[in-house]
Amino acid sequence: SRQWRGVIEEYRHRLDIPANTPTITLREGGTPMVESAWLSEVTGAEVWLKVEGDNPTGSFKDRGMTVALSVAVGEGAEAVVCASTGNTSASMAAYAARAGIKPLVLVPQGKISAGKLAQAIVHGAQVIMVRGNFDDCLRLSRGLADHYPVALVNSVNPMRLQGQKTASFEVVDVLGDAPDVHVLPTGNAGNVSAYWLGYTEAHRAGETLKLPVMRGWQAAGAAPLVHGAPVADPETVASAIRIGNPASWDLAVDAARSSGGRFRDVTDEQILHAQRELARREGVFVEPASAAGVAGLLLEASEGVRYDDQRVVVTVTGHGLKDIDTALSTFTDLVDTVCDADVESAAGAAGLA
Ligand code: F0G
Repeated sequence: SRQWRGVIEEYRHRLDIPANTPTITLREGGTPMVESAWLSEVTGAEVWLKVEGDNPTGSFKDRGMTVALSVAVGEGAEAVVCASTGNTSASMAAYAARAGIKPLVLVPQGKISAGKLAQAIVHGAQVIMVRGNFDDCLRLSRGLADHYPVALVNSVNPMRLQGQKTASFEVVDVLGDAPDVHVLPTGNAGNVSAYWLGYTEAHRAGETLKLPVMRGWQAAGAAPLVHGAPVADPETVASAIRIGNPASWDLAVDAARSSGGRFRDVTDEQILHAQRELARREGVFVEPASAAGVAGLLLEASEGVRYDDQRVVVTVTGHGLKDIDTALSTFTDLVDTVCDADVESAAGAAGLA
């Protein structure tokens, strides 16, 4: 047996990247596909979770970042910049550290989780807090990259989607075909576009019989793809997808349309409920945004939608430890149970005695 080599070395021949691109990797990708008995029961489908929180920095962003950073380094970049709701910046900072180049991060002030901010800081990023939202940060990042010697590594950089499409290859590897339906949370819309790219390439290569229906789920207060128009002031507890004007709008709409899928939205309450149930029932702790797809499946089940005899893959995009403040905020009835340091006291406190 050998160690998983990371997205570039495992899939280099399938990545549309410049020849002789070096490999900056943390051995990302190769993440678990975990069957969910609970969601299978609820939906009638065979439901699999693609657990992307198991990537090196705790989200799917590492797949795209290994490629974007490697190509940037191959082209001689000495600094990289991104706008972020937290995960992209955490990932970029880690890969920039590994590459020995300077990471510059723009985030919406007060709107990213402490865990993600810590990652960027600890990996050595220069973090700039913007008085504005993610969409403002992206506009500024593009402006900086246009006028100064810093390479933009947001998903408007096509190298990001090259890396992220490999998740589809892994799904096909495990299932032996594409699923019938692929469900995922959608914010800036790079990931849904990347999965669709991966599935269509696998199909064209003759590796799958099917193409999946792509189903993207947005937060109700930040659902531009559902409304068909940008949202000026996006708001949601799922800070990772608090985005009003997705950069990959056209690609995402094409993915939904070409696959027979669509975008819908779920409320913050439904997102937090799904996060909590997934953790309690399946042992999979994801961050709030990552639970949007699960919340969508639960919403559809409550509407009577059935997926009998179908295979459904749900990407859960980031680890629950990314944002423990939000996770714990739903446990309002929690009280510490304190005891003295002896077995009797512990048994009493635990209600065993
Ligand atoms: N889930 C998580 C955990 C995310 O961090 C993001 C995006 C998404 C879902 C949505 O993916 O943007 O490709 O549609 N986070 C970006 C960031 C915006 O800056 O970390 P998308």
